[in-house]
Amino acid sequence: MSALIKECKECGKALEVVHETEFSDSEKFVQYKCGHFAVVSTLEATGAPESIAAEGAVRERTAPLQGETMAVSVSLINMKGGVGKTTLAAQLAHTASLKGLRTLAVDLDPQANLSQALLSPEKYAKLLRDRKPTIVQLFEQYFPPTDEYPSPQPVDIDKIILKQVGHHTIATLHLIPSRLELSHTLKNPFGKERRLAKSLTKVADDYDLILIDCAPTESILTDAAYHASRYVLVPVKPEYLATIGLPLLARSIREFKDENSDRELDICGIVFNHSSSYSSGPEGERSIREVHSEAKKHGWHVFNTHVRYSRSYAKAAREGTPIAWTSYARWDVSKEFVGFVDEFFAAINLSKGTT
Ligand SMILES: Nc1ncnc2c1ncn2[C@@H]1O[C@H](COP(=O)(O)OP(=O)(O)OP(=O)(O)O)[C@@H](O)[C@H]1O
Ligand SMILES: [Mg+2]
Repeated sequence: MSALIKECKECGKALEVVHETEFSDSEKFVQYKCGHFAVVSTLEATGAPESIAAEGAVRERTAPLQGETMAVSVSLINMKGGVGKTTLAAQLAHTASLKGLRTLAVDLDPQANLSQALLSPEKYAKLLRDRKPTIVQLFEQYFPPTDEYPSPQPVDIDKIILKQVGHHTIATLHLIPSRLELSHTLKNPFGKERRLAKSLTKVADDYDLILIDCAPTESILTDAAYHASRYVLVPVKPEYLATIGLPLLARSIREFKDENSDRELDICGIVFNHSSSYSSGPEGERSIREVHSEAKKHGWHVFNTHVRYSRSYAKAAREGTPIAWTSYARWDVSKEFVGFVDEFFAAINLSKGTT
């Protein structure tokens, strides 16, 4: 059987297609021999097979979406730990960038799990070894002295943003990495809560979507996230005491808005993430009902699509891949995730792609 040859836009060459998977009802992933990949429209494919590569290779974008001038920024917050904030942030970032949205992922957690998931643990270890700047410098506002510059230099966000992250170096996915030293910010937080927002404003025109992964505890970093966000996305794990963090979050956002009446900040929705296999039993169902009733009290939207339990999510973090590209990931798992992404984009008024 002869190999399927299509043009990879990243390389600008006609190359063998080594893998194809359905991505959504009207799109599919295509991976080329060079390792690059693309999301292509299957509708276009039906009508004009030869034009797939030219039309659909990784959607590199340099201009904002029509009618949009600045990124929509969304923080993933739940004061409860282990609910899937980082997992969803990583997968949303991959999926958004695959759909052609210029995406900036911001790791605002000293645990730095998002940095590891998007860079791979090996590349993240190298970043630490090479003493590359991280989000810590955004909060400190200066780069420490180096051999080249013996005195501290004023911070420049462009030098912190890592371009083309992810296993397959997706052109439109960028990252502000974190490191454990960010926790020092918590020891001396005075006057730092607006610094992230101020820095992001400088690059907001360069992106369509900014996703901020937050730590599970409330601190100055939570305030920094609120200042930098238009929306909050709340992942919830359906289990006993699932609602426990929700009143705390409601109060925290209310207090923030009382003190910052000029800021628009809304919860765009609660998403159920089944991060353990036992959440589908009666206890899980009960907690889902409780979360719905708590959400109703506050007028919060609950997304229809649940992110189901799948070991592929942990594997995706290890491999630094979108869920659909993760080895042995089931097709229905990735299709369902894309379904959630479409709902999420609608909730934040973001056009889902650039076609
Ligand atoms: N849908 C899922 N299916 C299976 N495992 C999942 C799923 N979502 C998350 N996990 C796993 O659950 C664990 C916790 O997820 P994650 O680190 O994303 O949570 P978190 O809310 O960011 O945690 P923290 O509060 O510590 O930052 C991880 O091991 C992750 O791989
Ligand atoms: Mg996390």
